[in-house]
Parts: sequence; C-alpha cells; structure tokens
Amino acid sequence: MIILFIGDIFGQPGRDMLTASMPSLRDRYRPDFIVANGENAAAGRGITFATADDIFRAGVDVITMGNHTWSRKEILNMIDANSRLVRPANYPRGVPGRGRTVVEKNGMRLCVINLMGRVYMDVLLDDPFQTADRELQAMKGQADAILIDFHAEATSEKLALAMYTDGRAAAVIGTHTHVQTADNRILPKGTAFISDVGMTGPADGIIGVDAKIVLKKFTTSMPVQFEAAEGRAQLNAVVITIRPDGLAEGIERIVL
Ligand SMILES: [Fe+2]
Ligand SMILES: [Fe+2]
Repeated sequence: MIILFIGDIFGQPGRDMLTASMPSLRDRYRPDFIVANGENAAAGRGITFATADDIFRAGVDVITMGNHTWSRKEILNMIDANSRLVRPANYPRGVPGRGRTVVEKNGMRLCVINLMGRVYMDVLLDDPFQTADRELQAMKGQADAILIDFHAEATSEKLALAMYTDGRAAAVIGTHTHVQTADNRILPKGTAFISDVGMTGPADGIIGVDAKIVLKKFTTSMPVQFEAAEGRAQLNAVVITIRPDGLAEGIERIVL
C-alpha cells in the first residue's frame, strides 16, 4: 500500500497548488490513498463546504484537521455527515464529528486517526496517548494499515507519541508547524515517522501568512488580522510505503 500525505493546505494558493500538482504526484508515486490536512483550507483558518470540495475533487480521500477545526462555523453543518473529514480524536466526548475513519479502495482498508498535542497547545484536550491506545485498540483487525496525523507543536511530544505507538500504527505524521522537518524515518518496530510534513500554500509568507502582517505583529505586539500571502506556492508531502503486515518500509519527503 502506498499513502500520499499532504501537509496543511493553506488558503486558495494551497488548494490551487494541490489541484495543479496532483496529476504529476499520481504519476510518480501511484498512491493507493491520499490524505491531506485541511485545517487551514479556508483563507488559512478552518474549512468550508467549498474548500473541502476543492480538496476532495483534487483526489484526496481523507481530510484531517487540527486546532483550526472550529474556526469556520460551517463545519458544524458537514462534519457529522462527512465520514471522510476527521477532527482530533482527543476532543472530549460529545463533540461533533469523528476522530477516525476507515476508507476502502483497491481491496485495501486504511484507517486514519487524527490527534492533537497539548504541549504549547490546548491543554484542555484529553490525553493524546490514552486516546491513541483507545483508538488503536478499537481498530485492531479493522484495517490493513493505520495512519495517525498528530497535530502538535512540540517535536518532543510528536516523537514521544510516535515511539509510544511504534509497531501499532503504520505511520505517525506530524502536522501544524508548517515547516517540513528532515527526520523522516522508520522507527524500530516499523512505524513511519516525521515530526512535521510541512505546508501546502504560499511559499513566501511566514508559515502561510502574509509576511508584512506577521512582521507587524512581531515588531509591535499589536493585534493583527492574518491573511494568506500571495505569490509563489509550495507543496509539502510525504509518501509512505506499507508492507503487507501493516507496518512501514519507507517514508520519503516531497517538496514542490
Ligand atoms: Fe496548520
Ligand atoms: Fe494547526
């Protein structure tokens, strides 16, 4: 099984870059499944019907989310109905949507679990480690491979969760920091890992946002309204190769 995982799709530049890159990515990597983080799809904050539609139409099978899950109220009208849109599983019980999904294609089943970290993030979330135990246990024998999008800030928390689930998940892919890290590897028990897959969106902003606006914030400490940067775009992704036993044999970085 080959999985293409695309880093946080940021605004229109990210959605356009995704659509434009898909034919060559498909040709080159022949992915069975395509997963993308969509928490920044709508102008950098959250996701809407139209922006989710753009991403699905480009060929993405599952969209994962993160700390911007609820930034657009519109998501409340679609998250329960759309089984291919997942939000972090460690939101407390009763929160709309689902934290995992299983998609089936070419006679193979891929389970995607979304989790969010707590270090330098929302500390009111449930423990991602215990949640991972619960989710992995529930999925035992229900899928040919399990991929976790761990949306977190601290590299230590990301690696800790990957080590914790090593040998139980096919891949733990970090998202949220928008900067691709060079630590892609297979952990000792067979889980593919990268601290952060990076971002798909404006190449010349500051993690997607117009640099002038971010600089104003850093140099004045005044409140600002973030807007997506214009100009060149980038795509960051990883391609993961899964063995028949559901663990990984390769993880390669992609930067366009
Ligand atoms: Fe993001
Ligand atoms: Fe995020």
